[in-house]
Amino acid sequence: MCGIVGYIGNKTACPILIAGLTNLEYRGYDSAGISTIEKNVLSVLKDKGRVNNLKNLSEFNSLKGSVGIAHTRWATHGKPSSVNSHPHLDNSKTFSVVHNGIIENYNELKNFLTNKGFTFYSETDTEVIPNLISYYYQEFPNKNKDVSVFLSAVQKACKELIGSYAIEVISKDFPDYIIVAKKNSPLVIGKGVKENYIASDIPAILEYTKNFYFLEENEFAVISRNNVEFFDSSLNKISKDLKEISWDSNATDKNGFEDYMLKEIYEQPDSIRNTINSRLNENGEYDFSDLKLSKQYLKNINKIYILACGTAMHAGLAVKNTIEKLCNIITQVEVASEFRYRNPLVDSNTLCIFVSQSGETADTLAALNLSKEAGAKTIAITNVVGSSITRLADYSVFTHAGPEIAVASTKAYTCQVTLLNMLAIHLAETLGNCDRELINTLKLNVLSLPNKVQECLNSDDFIKDFASRIYTEKDVFFLGRGIDYTTALEASLKLKEISYIHSEAYPAGELKHGPIALIENGTTVVSIITDKTLTPKSISNTQEVITRGAKTLIITNEHLSNSNFDTIINIPEVHSFVSPILAIIPLQLLAYRISKNKNLDVDKPRNLAKSVTVE
Ligand code: G6P
Repeated sequence: MCGIVGYIGNKTACPILIAGLTNLEYRGYDSAGISTIEKNVLSVLKDKGRVNNLKNLSEFNSLKGSVGIAHTRWATHGKPSSVNSHPHLDNSKTFSVVHNGIIENYNELKNFLTNKGFTFYSETDTEVIPNLISYYYQEFPNKNKDVSVFLSAVQKACKELIGSYAIEVISKDFPDYIIVAKKNSPLVIGKGVKENYIASDIPAILEYTKNFYFLEENEFAVISRNNVEFFDSSLNKISKDLKEISWDSNATDKNGFEDYMLKEIYEQPDSIRNTINSRLNENGEYDFSDLKLSKQYLKNINKIYILACGTAMHAGLAVKNTIEKLCNIITQVEVASEFRYRNPLVDSNTLCIFVSQSGETADTLAALNLSKEAGAKTIAITNVVGSSITRLADYSVFTHAGPEIAVASTKAYTCQVTLLNMLAIHLAETLGNCDRELINTLKLNVLSLPNKVQECLNSDDFIKDFASRIYTEKDVFFLGRGIDYTTALEASLKLKEISYIHSEAYPAGELKHGPIALIENGTTVVSIITDKTLTPKSISNTQEVITRGAKTLIITNEHLSNSNFDTIINIPEVHSFVSPILAIIPLQLLAYRISKNKNLDVDKPRNLAKSVTVE
């Protein structure tokens, strides 16, 4: 999705903006642009294509000044092109604006402004914003205005906008300020010494500062070199606390790995260890005391909803059975974009858990708002401190995966499944009616995960070999029963995302109700077998596809000796409740290796965005 960067200080803005945009490339984009001001001259440089392309444009060196805004665009309204790229100027070339989000009423606003004599050059929704600001700015009689007039014009324009936005505005009439505003789209302000930074995403500016302000909905900030002033929607001054982010800025380097995805796959032993440790007290006991969920409350809840999108939703699926078995509470896992529009049965006795790496996914955020309005208690499971979802939820529990840059999520997923399992155990212990022996086994299993994940990474060579044999295929099937089906879903998503191979995940027992018709000589079928109670059934289902000519990759913690299987990857034994955390590792590697064999851009797959901040 679109990315925003801004800088105001005493250094030349352009290289900082380029570096920030480069850090945001992972979000997915198709165009980039920069606008700077020097001596009341506003310059704009933008084009479709990569951030690096900007450096080749002839006007690049004329981008002077120590104040600037920048943007990576992921096209929604209008194709990727120079004219549709941000920043956008108003007709008088007084204001320059970058925008993340979607202005839903832009047609009405465009008509309104066209009737007032404004002309539009792009197909974007964004171009109405600088022109609306300009329209309201003209209402002020005296042109020697102070920055409050600039702010009022921005506020009046924002009042007219329906939809979502995070915007940065600079003006040639106010060369020492950047004004920012946000509604349903993330924006952070990084505080430096005599300089300030702005970004849609913390990693973009992490190399410059670790101190951040988080803008809330409908708030404005007026940013100068030495100061940041905050205002509510009616322009009353408000104060804000600075928050320190603990992420290491080196965490956004590739650290010698060829791609971020590979680095993130290999980081999993550490990220899982950090996530586990974050919830252990000095006696090694689980500590979720910040979640004020009493035994009485838990006894009265009618159901638990886990709401999320994409990989985060698969993390929810991976713990549904665990919560139901340990806590005896009905647990439903739903895609947030469906949940939000179907009048779900949520009330004050429902516990809603929102899983999101970024903490910014628009649909998950909307599902959270809906659940809160219905009176449910809400818990956010996210990786980003200060993100919108954590600010809205009643309680937040953080994964400690560190910044995840590759679009295809890997370490965030395994940390989410780990943390959700720990939470399930905590809820079961609070309820007090659980099988003590099972809880103790699970706790030991959780502690063993980092080392066992490390062992799973040893499968890379076998996976490389298997990938080199199947990377030209058109279809791959992933099968699993019970919890292994949830791993199949996640493995299939990984393969689709980065290798562009069509794949299907099926509950193994369901295959013969239709999809088996697609199995022919040579079709690749990946079978995940980690639940002892279901192993014979899973083997039978795999045998059925082998009989029809499939070649099979088996991921298992059982000692299988069936010579019909093409490749068997053995993973360490753990209780099936936590087995998705191990079983997915070779399958993340499989998607990665296939993508490399196909010479694709692993970290930035086509059409996808890391953080989906629009519907
Ligand atoms: C996008 C990303 C996925 C991610 C999903 C949910 O589709 O490409 O990798 O799983 O959003 O993102 P979240 O930040 O809410 O976990």
